[in-house]
Amino acid sequence: MDSIIEKVLNFKKEDIPAYEPYLMVGAGTPGINLIKGKNIYVWDIDGKKYLDCTSQSWALHLGYAHPELNQTIKEQIEYAHHFHSGFFTMLRYMLAKKIAEIFPEKMNRVLIQVGGSAAVEAALKLAMINRPSAHNFIALYGGYHGLSFMTTGASHTGTMASGKYIGGSKLAHFSQNFIRVPAPYYYRPYFEVTRTDDKDEVDRRCLQILEMQIKYGSTGPVCAMLMEPLQGSGGQLTFSKNYLQGVKDICKKNNIVLIWDCIQTAFGRMGTWCAAEYYGVTPDIMVIGKSMGSGYPIAGIVVSDELEGFKMTDWIDGSTFTNNQVSQIAALKQIEIIEKYNILENVREVGSYLKSNLEEIQKTCPFIGDIRAIGFHIGIEFVKDPQTREPDYAGCSAMRSKGYQNGILFGEGGTGKGKNVLKIKPPLITTREQADEILEKFSASLNDVYGK
Ligand SMILES: Cc1ncc(COP(=O)(O)O)c(C=O)c1O
Repeated sequence: MDSIIEKVLNFKKEDIPAYEPYLMVGAGTPGINLIKGKNIYVWDIDGKKYLDCTSQSWALHLGYAHPELNQTIKEQIEYAHHFHSGFFTMLRYMLAKKIAEIFPEKMNRVLIQVGGSAAVEAALKLAMINRPSAHNFIALYGGYHGLSFMTTGASHTGTMASGKYIGGSKLAHFSQNFIRVPAPYYYRPYFEVTRTDDKDEVDRRCLQILEMQIKYGSTGPVCAMLMEPLQGSGGQLTFSKNYLQGVKDICKKNNIVLIWDCIQTAFGRMGTWCAAEYYGVTPDIMVIGKSMGSGYPIAGIVVSDELEGFKMTDWIDGSTFTNNQVSQIAALKQIEIIEKYNILENVREVGSYLKSNLEEIQKTCPFIGDIRAIGFHIGIEFVKDPQTREPDYAGCSAMRSKGYQNGILFGEGGTGKGKNVLKIKPPLITTREQADEILEKFSASLNDVYGK
């Protein structure tokens, strides 16, 4: 075994202080020390095993050390791992063509980027090229699009969403501040509603405000609207088809490019290749990333035939590693594996099994206020009281900590003064038996936090 790998595998907690002072991490929810993973399980530095419901920032659709993916990567690195983007490579052609095939009609051109934030920026640049006289952008309350200067202006981390200004707000003078409009948060609308369960009213008012902001709240024509079709970081919010179609219609009417940030939703997490397929509504540009390379860094945009694209010689978008052969073959192989083992069907089946069982558990626990789930995109909102719906930030955080004790990794989300939405987003290969294990560990953690 290679001596570096051997050292990693034999690392002890006592060794950490000798290394810690040299490391700087710019963002993240502090976790535990992880060493290795297999299938949907991961082991920490003490050898403790956890079932991973975070898929490591929802990126590992095939889990850890997938044997077929690993074999392909091992073979590929013997031939090539990095070429500069100016050289034409077969893998890049093949990947772009395959994505165009599995994504909706008219979404036929793919640009590759290295990470999500850069891909979102590429989408915004392309929108500007297509709407040269419009300079303003719209985003949703609670949206998350990355932490680069430009995407900071669109993400909730730079606003008062968490009760105070954090993160990118300190750098706001360098970033373009997006015009923000409320997202339809049905369980906890941003405005007073007549009836708490009237989703149509929430949709109607959100669409109305969007129209008002375009008309009265923008200093000039709006170039693009950037939104997640299912808001992940901001609380696992699922939107109605009616709302998504309404936004599309308003954008079309006002000549605004509609960009869907599909970084969390694409490649199967909803049980379809993308949110557009799930809803039957297609935007002008889709941004992809995270799970795209099954854990290898790759992202991109998928562009409608109706838009003008980038030209290579214009030098508007690109970077050194946008033609990484390992990431590209990982992305292609992942699609092949998803097709071969009917993994989208697995997500639909096991996802609805998880949802219905969680809803049964909800009946016994008043602190589970709302469950929002599509496929393996599951969010559980904790409240102190189901009547007042007061968020239970401490309870959700305790669920995550108890999860560690019970051998399960949960994610946390939401944009309040803390996070009160527990996320269950395991790799797409999770079986029904493993779903039972998730439910068992979830119930044990619930019992530890809230009692029977
Ligand atoms: C919806 C969405 N957009 C954009 C990003 C930013 O992607 P990256 O972290 O790869 O820059 C993220 C990352 O969490 C995301 O969830």
